[in-house]
Amino acid sequence: PLVSLRVVLDHAAENNYGVAAFNVNNMEQIQSIMEAAAETDSPVIIQASRGARSYSQDAYLRHLMLAAAELYPNIPIVMHQDHGNSVATCLSAIDNGFTSVMMDGSLKEDGKTPADFDYNVQVTKDVVKLAHARNVGVEGELGCLGSLESGHGEAEDGHGAEGQLSHDQLLTDPDEAAQFVAATGVDALAVAIGTSHGAYKFTKKPDGSVLAMDRIEAIHKKLPNTHLVMHGSSSVPQELQDIINKYGGKMPQTWGVPVEEIQRGIKNGVRKINVDTDCRMAITGAIRKVLTESPDKFDPRDYLKPARTAMKEVCKARMVQFGQAGNA
Ligand code: G3H
Ligand code: 13P
Ligand code: NA
Ligand code: ZN
Repeated sequence: PLVSLRVVLDHAAENNYGVAAFNVNNMEQIQSIMEAAAETDSPVIIQASRGARSYSQDAYLRHLMLAAAELYPNIPIVMHQDHGNSVATCLSAIDNGFTSVMMDGSLKEDGKTPADFDYNVQVTKDVVKLAHARNVGVEGELGCLGSLESGHGEAEDGHGAEGQLSHDQLLTDPDEAAQFVAATGVDALAVAIGTSHGAYKFTKKPDGSVLAMDRIEAIHKKLPNTHLVMHGSSSVPQELQDIINKYGGKMPQTWGVPVEEIQRGIKNGVRKINVDTDCRMAITGAIRKVLTESPDKFDPRDYLKPARTAMKEVCKARMVQFGQAGNA
């Protein structure tokens, strides 16, 4: 059934595991996640960004999620709004059956400009009030997502605050985190510890100190009962880069977040781990392979089926690695 965020994350905390939150835009991606969950006996979080909702259209998405719940009655499924930019976005998600919403008040409504602490508290608090009244969980975000390597916040797209914000200012401050959670009542808190969205996180192989894991530990000590969330947590596997490039793609060499780093986070209160890029890469690699090897084919099922299988394999791997397997 569709359940609220709390149901899944409280169980994860009680049993010391993490739950992958995979992004979806269409039916095949939902099918990949559900098949992976069924094969590994995992609870799932399926999330849709604002862009995903507009691409898939709310009504299609709502019915696809209801279909997933109908087909897999024994799997707890959270339907989550990823990076909600305003109270209105979160409300419309709830009206469309989402059981969890992220109010990302670390940025202004444009989703780009860094917002101040007071704005973030106010808008997140407003969402918590509306959401909790309808048994919907809320994720907030504090800090500025961005690679520690590049030294600037992702919101700037490499411009603007570059050179003005130090590494330290990008990261979530443990005292502020405690203040933020107390003031807003969020169920889960996304923290900035040096990850960024997308495939291009690190330009060299991470050496074990690319993420500010000490921050996670400090935040978890201050907030032992708050579920922590890691965004930008794709591992960008070499095999997937190789498949894409072997079959005509042109992705420059890149590195993502090592799974072992995520596992360290899970030992320190991380319960929700956002993964989108790895799934996108799996799908693209599989489609490129079919179209390159069989240029005569034109039935979408000929490439969408392998794409679905490839994404399922990524999902299964993460479900096992994060420890959610066996916990449905
Ligand atoms: O936060 C970003 C997620 O990967 C979703 O991306 O906004 O392109 O749908 P999107
Ligand atoms: P990745 O781009 O690392 O998959 O991160 C996805 C994410 O954080 C969605 O909110
Ligand atoms: Na989210
Ligand atoms: Zn994110």
